[in-house]
Amino acid sequence: MKLSIPSPFVFSLVTVLLLACTNTMADRDPILSKIDLDADPPLAPLPPPPAPLDNPITQAKADLGMKLFFDPKMTGDASLSCGDCHDPKQGWGFNDPISRGYPGTVHWRNSQTVVNTAYLGKLFWQGNAKSLEAQAPIANKGAVAGNGEDDVMEARLRQTPYYIQKFREIFGTELPNLGDAWMAIATFERTLSQRDTPLDRYLAGDKEALSETALKGKELFEGKANCIECHNGPTLTDEKYYNLGVPRPLEWEEMGLNTVTFRWEAYAKGVHEKYYRDWKDDAGLYYSTKRPTDVGKHRTAPLRYLAYTAPYMHAGQFYTLEEVIDFYDEGGGDNEFTDGTHGLENKTPILKPLKLNDEEKESLVVFLEEISGDEIRLKLPEVPPYEVMPDVPGLTQARAKRIGLETYLARTAQQ
Ligand code: HEC
Ligand code: HEC
Repeated sequence: MKLSIPSPFVFSLVTVLLLACTNTMADRDPILSKIDLDADPPLAPLPPPPAPLDNPITQAKADLGMKLFFDPKMTGDASLSCGDCHDPKQGWGFNDPISRGYPGTVHWRNSQTVVNTAYLGKLFWQGNAKSLEAQAPIANKGAVAGNGEDDVMEARLRQTPYYIQKFREIFGTELPNLGDAWMAIATFERTLSQRDTPLDRYLAGDKEALSETALKGKELFEGKANCIECHNGPTLTDEKYYNLGVPRPLEWEEMGLNTVTFRWEAYAKGVHEKYYRDWKDDAGLYYSTKRPTDVGKHRTAPLRYLAYTAPYMHAGQFYTLEEVIDFYDEGGGDNEFTDGTHGLENKTPILKPLKLNDEEKESLVVFLEEISGDEIRLKLPEVPPYEVMPDVPGLTQARAKRIGLETYLARTAQQ
């Protein structure tokens, strides 16, 4: 049948009708009309960690993930693991302003805690990984982090009897696959959730859970200091992006090795030659979108584990929470993407001078410290050793990879 009305017209007609309906519904419905669509989501207790349908959380998978997290087999030269930059004793991050890098390099951003990352839909300061499963390979393979090769890392796992056995039990494959390793690592990270904090207890009804000073801090956080506009919901982040005018890290002024990484990152992220030459600061979200309005924006940081994760901001620009509060009290700062140096004035209009007195500043700090809860400590697991391969006549590398050693042995035994 041929349509007599052009379909774009039908489409817009339907849209207009739908909009009209929802508007009148909101006007008439006594509940809907009371909802303030512009209100910030309130602070809320952390729910149990969510997991994707194809990677449910099990204890066995989390245990395997823990081994892999601390096993240097998952990097280029087998000398560092996720746990070296996400150290349980350093808030599951790394306490230098700018993280250590792969041997011979330094990183270019502050290492973030992996605690409570189960709840985030945008990972990294730039928000460029959308799940923990997608993030793990970026970490293991990224040139200034793990710098690992797929084939080499997988071969190492396949040469380790502990992993052969565990991957077989958990994933049902004859030999370990890297894809399953990322699943296990992500599962382990999901178990690193700190849900039993004074904030969660307070929000669940225990009015004694937060100290009087922290409660004053909470009131400021949600009121006069307006932190809640961006740090809201159960994770204390809206997962949106802003340029606060955080100053450029000194390291890029003074240290050659840091400058190398910064320049390489800009190039690797496809920045135009002119900007590559002119820009001297981290352009954040711009690297993902290439939109001028996104230059220098970073994802709002979650604030639930801060007592253990100093220094703060994307390049560890502030050593203490006091410095962070002073920064916000002044209405944020300025950098080359906010002050017009490159014709860009991207600073968020949300930040305004707060005029906090010393007592108010202190109570905000106390609030942020108290809501961190207890530190998640862990006895570091032992790294499972390699075993030599038996000498199998007639087995080529290509066949071993394709069909697996055991199948090959079983087949030759039958012949
Ligand atoms: C050489 C140091 C280094 C290694 C090794 C490393 N990381 Fe990271 N990690 C970082 C840094 C630095 C960041 C922030 C990077 C950025 O935003 O660009 C980060 C960010 C993350 C984040 C994002 C957290 C958030 O709040 O968005 C997760 C999750 C993470 N790493 C997990 C891992 C896992 C899993 C491994 C091992 C597979 C690993 N990392 C290996 C340094 C490292
Ligand atoms: C306009 C949105 C916005 C407002 C308002 C805001 N923040 Fe932030 N906050 C961010 C963003 C974005 C980052 C990450 C910035 C970066 O690294 O460049 C951040 C980072 C932080 C960090 C560092 C976390 C870490 O892991 O390094 C702390 C602490 C913090 N904010 C506390 C506060 C407090 C306290 C207030 C209220 C006084 C506040 N923020 C108001 C958006 C906001």
